[in-house]
Amino acid sequence: TSDLRGRSFLKELDFTPEEWRALLDLAADLKAAKKAGREERRLAGRNIALIFEKTSTRTRTAFEVAAHDQGAHVTYLDPAGSQIGHKESFKDTARVLGRFFDGIEYRGARQADVETLAAYAGVPVFNGLTDEWHPTQMLADQLTMREHAAVDGRPRADEEIAFAYVGDARNNTAHSLLVAGAMLGMDVRLVAPEGLQPEAGVVAQAREVAGRTGARLTVTDDVAAGVRGVDFVYTDVWVSMGEKKEAWDERIALLRDYQVNAGLLAATGNPDVKFMHCLPAFHDLGTTLGREIYARTGLDALEVTDEVFESPASIVFDQAENRMHTIKAVLVATLAGPRP
Ligand code: CP
Ligand code: NVA
Repeated sequence: TSDLRGRSFLKELDFTPEEWRALLDLAADLKAAKKAGREERRLAGRNIALIFEKTSTRTRTAFEVAAHDQGAHVTYLDPAGSQIGHKESFKDTARVLGRFFDGIEYRGARQADVETLAAYAGVPVFNGLTDEWHPTQMLADQLTMREHAAVDGRPRADEEIAFAYVGDARNNTAHSLLVAGAMLGMDVRLVAPEGLQPEAGVVAQAREVAGRTGARLTVTDDVAAGVRGVDFVYTDVWVSMGEKKEAWDERIALLRDYQVNAGLLAATGNPDVKFMHCLPAFHDLGTTLGREIYARTGLDALEVTDEVFESPASIVFDQAENRMHTIKAVLVATLAGPRP
C-alpha cells in the first residue's frame, strides 16, 4: 500500500500510477464513510493554511469542509490578504508558515512558486491550481468518471474509460487531464484548434507515461473524429484566470466550432455520453462576465450550451461534490498519523 505521509501534492507526475489510484480509492472510502455517518476524524488538532492568489469557490470550500470534517483548522489568506510574493518572498513565507501549519494549500499563477513553497516549508504543500497544472481537480474528475462508468454498480477498469476534452487544450485543466488520463491508462482525446493544442513538452511527458500504462492519447483539431465513441465529453472556459481580457475575441473566433452542444454530443455516437466541466462555466447570462460577453458578441453561451449543461447527460455537480471528497483524501493521506 502507498504511504504518502509528509508528501506534497504539486502535480500529477510526482506520483506513480499506483499512488494515484490509492488516492482515488481512499477518496471513495472517505466519501462512503461520510455518507454512512461513520467518518473518523484523523486530522484532529492539525492546522492548514489556504493561500489563494486567484479567486475560488470550489477549491477553497472543499479544503475548508474536508479539513473541518476531519477535525483540522484552516486559515484562509485571500488574493490580497498576505505579504506573499509582493513584500515577502515565497522562500521566506514558506519558512514562516511551516512553523505554524501542518500543511499549506496554494493557488496562484506560477508552478515554480508552489514548488518553492514546498521546498522550504518543511510540511506538505498542496497545489490548488497554477497556470500549469490543476491536480486536485483531476482526482475529482477521475473519481467521477469511475462512478459514472460503472455498469449496474460493477466498476469498469480505468483502462476501459474514454474521454474527450474539447476546447482550450493549452490550459491547466487540459494539461492535467492529458497526464492524469495517461497515468490511469485511459483513452484520452484532446480536441482543439491548432493554436490551442497542448504544449509539446506536456504531450511528450504524457506519451512517455502512456508507453508504460498503455494509455491511448490523441490530439486533434477534428471534432467528429475526436469525440467518436467516448464515455465523457469534458470542457473548460475559453479564457482562464490571469489571461488578458483581449484574449476573448480571439478565443471566441478560434473556438466557435468547439462548443459543446447537442450536435457535438450526438457526434459521439454514444447515447449514454456524459458531460463534464470543472466549473465555473459560461452557459447562460447569469453572471456579470457572461452579460459583458453577450453585450460584445451576442453569444449567450461559450464553451457549452445551456441545453447541454442542464441536460440529464450533465454530471458537473457530481464532479464538483467530488472535489471535497478527493481533497480530503489528499489531506488524510499526507497529514494523518503521528506528526513527523
Ligand atoms: N474547479 C475549480 O477549481 O473551481 P474554483 O475555481 O471555484 O475553485
Ligand atoms: N482553466 C480554468 C480552470 C478554473 C478552475 C482557469 O485556470 O481559470
